[in-house]
Amino acid sequence: MADGVTYDSYLRLDAILSAQEPKSDRHDELLFIVIHQTKELWLKQIIAELELALDLVRGDRLTEAYKGLARVSRIQAVMTLSWDVLTTMTPADYTRFRHVLGTSSGFQSDQFRTVEVMLGVREGPMLGPMTIDAAARPSLWDEANAAAARAGLPVPDAALTRDWAKPYRADGGVEAAWAEVYRAPDTYWALYQLAEKLVDIDDAMASWRHRHVLTVSRIIGGKRGTGGTAGVPYLESTLTKRAFPELWSLRTLL
Ligand code: HEM
Repeated sequence: MADGVTYDSYLRLDAILSAQEPKSDRHDELLFIVIHQTKELWLKQIIAELELALDLVRGDRLTEAYKGLARVSRIQAVMTLSWDVLTTMTPADYTRFRHVLGTSSGFQSDQFRTVEVMLGVREGPMLGPMTIDAAARPSLWDEANAAAARAGLPVPDAALTRDWAKPYRADGGVEAAWAEVYRAPDTYWALYQLAEKLVDIDDAMASWRHRHVLTVSRIIGGKRGTGGTAGVPYLESTLTKRAFPELWSLRTLL
């Protein structure tokens, strides 16, 4: 029994519950802060799961990686559901405190960008220190391709030796290699299962992006974003981003 540990001290509630500092007197600003902080906590957990999954896939321990990957897509589902809470905030509520945000925006979230980069999306601003560090290493998709090559699939060399920091470009050879997995699931069961876990994550990410842009257009309409983009048109341009593009395109071949 650990002496002196209390619920409050273990969870550092002093730090967490004193970290909400609304800058206006508007009631809804607290919700806006809490929802963003909650998302950063979930992103922290996702990053921890992805770190572990990267190591496991690199070590060909695919079965052990499934649990963490499934956890990631369930966390993403919770994050997507949280838009239901935010949509209780009307445009009138938001415009009364929007000015206090200055140029701050979710666009600048180092953890959000790190998750994209760890998965395999390496486009867009990679400015934060955590993102830059993650971009120097292979993504989950790079590691999955290396695992497929080790299992004897014909993954092109270009995908195995690429410059990790560069944006990933979908490759016909990679698509063909994974199509073999989907054509013979019984032969490649471990990779087949991995691929479907990855599609779950891409799917959940796309759902999150859709709900974000829908919520944003409901709250700010055609206004520009506080982070400096065109707003809804910018967010719509992100909807087609996929971390594992060949896992989507290969379905046409089956
Ligand atoms: C009133 C609510 C919100 C509005 C009006 C809004 C608006 C926007 C806009 C316009 C952008 C594009 C960048 C910019 O110009 O600022 C953006 C980006 C982003 N927002 Fe929100 N947002 C809202 C709530 C949230 C919440 C609650 C989260 C997370 C829980 C979030 C996370 C993000 C992220 C991660 C990006 C970067 C997306 C990317 O570049 O792919 N936003 N937001």
